[in-house]
Amino acid sequence: MNRRKFINLTALTAPLLSFSKVTESIPAVKPIMISTWEEGKNVNKAAWGILSEKGRAIDAIEAGAIYVEDKISCCVVLGGNPDRAGFVTLDACIMDENANCGAVAGLERIKHPLSVARKVMETTPHVLLVGDGALKFALQNGFTIENKELSIDAKKEYEKWLKKSTYKPVINIENLPVQVENKDGAFTMPLKFDDGSFNHDTMGMIAMDVSGNVSGGVTTSGMAFKMHGRVGDSAVIGAGLFVDNEVGAATSSGVGEEVIRTCGTHTVVEFMRRGYSPELACKKTIERIIKNNKARAKTLQVGFVAVNKKGAYGAYAVQEGFVYAVKTKQVDRIFKSAFFYKAPKSED
Ligand code: GLY
Repeated sequence: MNRRKFINLTALTAPLLSFSKVTESIPAVKPIMISTWEEGKNVNKAAWGILSEKGRAIDAIEAGAIYVEDKISCCVVLGGNPDRAGFVTLDACIMDENANCGAVAGLERIKHPLSVARKVMETTPHVLLVGDGALKFALQNGFTIENKELSIDAKKEYEKWLKKSTYKPVINIENLPVQVENKDGAFTMPLKFDDGSFNHDTMGMIAMDVSGNVSGGVTTSGMAFKMHGRVGDSAVIGAGLFVDNEVGAATSSGVGEEVIRTCGTHTVVEFMRRGYSPELACKKTIERIIKNNKARAKTLQVGFVAVNKKGAYGAYAVQEGFVYAVKTKQVDRIFKSAFFYKAPKSED
């Protein structure tokens, strides 16, 4: 994009004044792996072996998901907080460079929902399987059923929640502290870590392989204490994830309803198709969320991260606090997303 075109595009965004400045990342050399939140750095690492060995982007996405579903199953999948009826229900989706896609929603007791979504993509004529049908399909395809008990802390949080039964997602916190186990035994994953970072339950991933092909995936247990049967953006192609191999890809985290209302990631990709940088494309889409209902937007978080075909990447969120991890041959770090509203001071 030449300078004049960039300035023109920036001018088009003037009606909504935002807090942080738009910047463009330096295009990275392929391959590249991008994942949401702090844990994304470990997810990128888990996927990197495939990308660095000239493997396919879609395989890197699945490897990243398997890592996170295994390692922090506390907050991404089965150990996460339940819905209002007490069930942990999982949403996931995957999309490759040929517009092949698959998804599962409301899937219970299966550890690797993104792998089930991939099976839907590769072995069925459909895109999305839900609930009991998705579970049956998973079992028919060799996935094993897991314990249905809630983790100790999820049970505690659920019981606490039942007393008030209010539903108010907290900005930058898509889940609550839960008990996890690792090789050192059981411990409670805190709401906020010592370094100030939070745990998060939506893992969105984008990969570009050495051939320049782009794929993406999302895996989550969704919003804690959602209504039973509620499906978020993470199972909806065009909302939580969209890939167009000619343009790039985008993924999201945050309140899924807002992302679905704007066909969020599809909108981001379409803005990139029109020449906007990844960050500006994310910003334009976030501005739609804010314009739809400013009062509502002030109390919630949505973050988009995107990469274009040149390997440039960027992100934009409603609120301060959204972060994403990038791995290339030169870069391996967490970036703070640009944002619209500055975060209110933490109360703790
Ligand atoms: N972004 C996850 C959800 O809304 O369920």
